[in-house]
Amino acid sequence: MDLDLAGRTALVTAASGGIGRGVAEALATAGVRVAISSRTRALLEEVAETLAASAGGRPKIVVGDVCAEGGPAAIAAEAASALGGRVDILVNNAGGARPITGEVDESYWEMSFTLNFMAARRLAERVIPAMKAARWGRIINISGALVAPKLNAAAPAKAALASWSRTLSIELGGFGITVNTIAPGRIDTAQIRKLHPTEQSRADFIKQNIPAGYFGEPCDIGHLVAFLASPLARYINGAAIPVDGGAVRRAL
Ligand SMILES: NC(=O)c1ccc[n+]([C@@H]2O[C@H](COP(=O)([O-])OP(=O)(O)OC[C@H]3O[C@@H](n4cnc5c(N)ncnc54)[C@H](OP(=O)(O)O)[C@@H]3O)[C@@H](O)[C@H]2O)c1
Repeated sequence: MDLDLAGRTALVTAASGGIGRGVAEALATAGVRVAISSRTRALLEEVAETLAASAGGRPKIVVGDVCAEGGPAAIAAEAASALGGRVDILVNNAGGARPITGEVDESYWEMSFTLNFMAARRLAERVIPAMKAARWGRIINISGALVAPKLNAAAPAKAALASWSRTLSIELGGFGITVNTIAPGRIDTAQIRKLHPTEQSRADFIKQNIPAGYFGEPCDIGHLVAFLASPLARYINGAAIPVDGGAVRRAL
């Protein structure tokens, strides 16, 4: 299927590994000119090198921390400039969970909300004016479980992301901009390897929770992002789509 994405531009955060890398690959393969961002230049260079021959060309590298003060503004500005002036597609992928072990202080909660929600909002606010002017845009937010089985700060922050995303879709729908959320189940990345460090722990989790019988791969998220980013998905707005192998859902 031709996704009609050739020539579009995208900024993907946390694209030096895991899901973000899979998203960057799917978009670049579909002909999108991609800016990949994270904190580590060497890892981004590696990703850019592997995608150098893609239809979208070698991704632009934008080094930055989405949690730093002024980070999102600087990342958005550098990406727009590297992409010839505009970001058509924003993929807010940076995020993550840290389990609570023992006492945690305020900074634990604040950091999670900054990483999983505030950074996405700040980035979106930077790219929306140009999307409105162009009367075309795509914002795709990567959420996750909205209710965790054990207390952690990521699930409530992801719930904030999903709630904001839905309302934003209402506000922007009339401008040809869609805002959607993808809720990954277990996707095999470094973050998930830390959570399930042994073969046995992975097998046990899969048996209890994932009808498909395996962890997903970053490309499983990437393919949906590419479709949602495309003009073909113009009528999908404000959706929250689980990609989880049919897992028992805590995402909705
Ligand atoms: N994997 C899953 O099963 C799963 C499930 C539910 C939700 N999710 C969500 O999917 C997204 C991606 O998860 P993942 O599993 O691919 O994560 P991951 O494998 O842990 O990858 C983390 C990526 O985030 C970047 N990063 C971390 N902190 C950053 C910061 N402050 N600023 C910029 N970049 C930062 C890292 O790059 P640098 O170190 O180079 O900065 C790396 O590229 C997250 O939002 C996560 O919550 C994942």
